[in-house]
Amino acid sequence: MLFEQLEHIHARPAPFSTYTALDLWTDPHSSQRMLEFHIDGQTELASRTTAFIDRSVTWLSGLAGLGEGSQLLDLGCGPGLYANRLALTGAEVVGVDFSERSIDYAQSTADSTATPTYVLGNYLDVEVPGTFDVVLLAMYDYCALSPDQRRQLLDRIHGWLRQEGRFVFDVYGTRSLDEREEGVTYARDLMDGFWSDEPYHAFHHTFVYPDEGVVLDKYEIIESNRTRTIYNWLQHFTEAKLHAELHASGLTLDQLFGDLTGAPPDPDPRGFCAVASRRPEAAAVTG
Ligand SMILES: C[S@@+](CC[C@H](N)C(=O)[O-])C[C@H]1O[C@@H](n2cnc3c(N)ncnc32)[C@H](O)[C@@H]1O
Repeated sequence: MLFEQLEHIHARPAPFSTYTALDLWTDPHSSQRMLEFHIDGQTELASRTTAFIDRSVTWLSGLAGLGEGSQLLDLGCGPGLYANRLALTGAEVVGVDFSERSIDYAQSTADSTATPTYVLGNYLDVEVPGTFDVVLLAMYDYCALSPDQRRQLLDRIHGWLRQEGRFVFDVYGTRSLDEREEGVTYARDLMDGFWSDEPYHAFHHTFVYPDEGVVLDKYEIIESNRTRTIYNWLQHFTEAKLHAELHASGLTLDQLFGDLTGAPPDPDPRGFCAVASRRPEAAAVTG
């Protein structure tokens, strides 16, 4: 019995076979721990550091000429670290996130004279009316989505972007993939009680899928009265792969940067930032 259960826990899942992002970000206990990481300002576990975000907001504002009359959509906005700052430029900002705890924090910390509109929901299907000069997806969130979900999101972004609008996002590069190794860790209360305030046993597996450019960090969390599995998929990208995905949704890859502050690109990057726009013919490619 225990043998079969362990065999099941150690089995290698097919890439992107299960999507558990909602469980990761909305569980009452771990979403509180995530929020603490987000607003810590010094770590890069959930958001980037405060210094990076300040530089990023300055760069994004200049890149898109943000100000009165511009409109920006921040997908997976978390606790509003970018959205609240970007709203201070005078732009109208809409933030979307499915973590109620993060949205509450974002609303409570916004400047009363420049408050973004926050929408609680899944950016893959929640209704967000309007068109935008900038659509932002920060902190490698694009990499957590399956190929079908990425296509679904890019099609939505195509619909949200104005003709001159820009989609700005960051992704993992191939050097990050090369640096990952397969392995498994077991610990009681793994990650310092991150997963529950009740006692638990947990396994953390790292599976690497070199042919697909995918890494999975899988967490099996076993409490006295429930067992959860969290799948944290990470797609890694070359410029060519990103270009092909954007092209299939009627978008074009315009510029590459080293990161979301506009740093110069690295030829062998751990990660990079892409700026895309609607292709002039504007229609998404079907099939
Ligand atoms: C790594 S955090 C980054 C937050 C923010 N962009 C930042 O850099 O500070 C990812 C955020 O995206 C949200 N998220 C992930 N998948 C989502 C989805 N499908 N729909 C809406 N929000 C999502 C999570 O709740 C979390 O707040």
